[in-house]
Amino acid sequence: MNFYVPLVVVLLCLALFGLLRKVSRKSKLLLKGEHVLITGGTSGIGLEFAKLCLLHGCYVTVVGRSATRLEEALKVLRDLSKRLKGKEPIGYLFDVAEANSCESLLAQAEQKQGPIFLLICCAGSCVPGYFEEMDPNVFESQMRSNYLSAVYPVQSAFKRMKELRRGHIVLTSSIGGLLGVFGYSAYSPSKFAVRGLAEVLYQECLPFGVGVSLVCPPDTKTPGFDNENKHKPRETSLLSQGAGLFSAEQVAKEALNDIISRKFLISVGFQGKMLANGFASSFKGNRKES
Ligand SMILES: NC(=O)c1ccc[n+]([C@@H]2O[C@H](COP(=O)([O-])OP(=O)(O)OC[C@H]3O[C@@H](n4cnc5c(N)ncnc54)[C@H](OP(=O)(O)O)[C@@H]3O)[C@@H](O)[C@H]2O)c1
Repeated sequence: MNFYVPLVVVLLCLALFGLLRKVSRKSKLLLKGEHVLITGGTSGIGLEFAKLCLLHGCYVTVVGRSATRLEEALKVLRDLSKRLKGKEPIGYLFDVAEANSCESLLAQAEQKQGPIFLLICCAGSCVPGYFEEMDPNVFESQMRSNYLSAVYPVQSAFKRMKELRRGHIVLTSSIGGLLGVFGYSAYSPSKFAVRGLAEVLYQECLPFGVGVSLVCPPDTKTPGFDNENKHKPRETSLLSQGAGLFSAEQVAKEALNDIISRKFLISVGFQGKMLANGFASSFKGNRKES
């Protein structure tokens, strides 16, 4: 009799383990055949997200403002999708920081690729400088570039996702959106705003089965980063040296894995994760639903 007790315990543990594995597998986002729209998908981290989404079998739409950048990005993405025998990616020239442009953008994209399941808001820019020397217009333009460029597409997408009761929204903040960094008096507050928006959206989307993730990339080698470096105060460069420089591919890959796992607060690299856990400790989201 006593011999059977440990055996039953072991069998029960195995069954529980199997069940947990099944539940956790179920809770991952399944991207194959889904429409992914990426604002800022024509360069840097956004373009790497687009390539990875093609590898996952998604229908990809990228958005940017420069025709040259869009053309070059679409060439790369179309070559890749041909090799993968996937659906041809499409692209649009839209300024997503314009309030009235996003309804039309999403309607056009959905007509071609179906309902948007994953919206990745990656459009943004960084203008560093000493606070007292900064052109006052930059404070407004950084809010437009980083915060409003997320607000408008998300508003249009959320309405649609809410109706279908499915979908996932990704916002891109920054380590500079977790803590104020010397030289980022215009950039950091705009990325704090993105983080605030993500925390609100997480709660408002929850009842409708729509997920939200907030990606806070570390310093990442991209065309945008190279441009930012031309104007960076020396102190800002010195501060960021210790944290290292990541490739856009690595950042997008690690972030997409966490998005698929429906993580709310996402960062990359040891220091990035430490800062994300330390500075955004009041709200991390806790959903792991199926
Ligand atoms: N690289 C880093 O170190 C780093 C660190 C933390 C956070 N981030 C954030 O990560 C995101 C991507 O950065 P990145 O370095 O990959 O930048 P990037 O190489 O400059 O790419 C930015 C993309 O956004 C597009 N874009 C910008 N404003 C737009 C608008 N209003 N409407 C439509 N498209 C717009 C750009 O295309 P057009 O210019 O043609 O419109 C481009 O495709 C940004 O939000 C950035 O703030 C980057």
